[in-house]
Amino acid sequence: MQNTNTVLIGYMGSGKSTVARIMADRYRLRLLDTDTMIEKSTGKSISQIFAEEGEAAFRQMETQCLKRIADAKADHLIVASGGGTVLREENQALLKEIGKVVYLKVTPETAYNRVKGSAASRPLLQGADPYGQIVKMLAERENAYLRASDIIIATDDLTAETIADRVFDLRFDN
Ligand code: S3P
Repeated sequence: MQNTNTVLIGYMGSGKSTVARIMADRYRLRLLDTDTMIEKSTGKSISQIFAEEGEAAFRQMETQCLKRIADAKADHLIVASGGGTVLREENQALLKEIGKVVYLKVTPETAYNRVKGSAASRPLLQGADPYGQIVKMLAERENAYLRASDIIIATDDLTAETIADRVFDLRFDN
């Protein structure tokens, strides 16, 4: 049977969570958001986890979360992943096991404009120069996003609704 699941990857501010919510409503898919799942299972916010347990522990939780999703072998899922999920090669394989992986690509300018209002709650954007951090992190991560993805959508000039429709239309391609 064809895999009916879609996984959204991309940097913070690329629209993963918003697009996933729209797709879940519009196409009656089951929404899973790895950040939300981790927050629920630990009873802590992502910021708290980073502050109290560190990034390495959080990355371990992301891997466990993806394993849980993959092992459940559910279908009709739309999964929004955290922006750094692709950093572990192990996760790249798990993402593909779950479903078609769609990379929502953004420029640093768009990412910055979308996240600047919520930068305080984003542990990796706490320095004096969040825009500079975004430029650096995106450059460091680009290859991982590309390697992990089956489909790439440049999202800068698109509304979340248009991206949702495009993801839905493309999900059985390739
Ligand atoms: C992270 C992105 C965040 C969250 C955590 C780390 C990252 O998720 O998982 O703060 O490394 O890019 P979103 O991309 O959903 O904001």
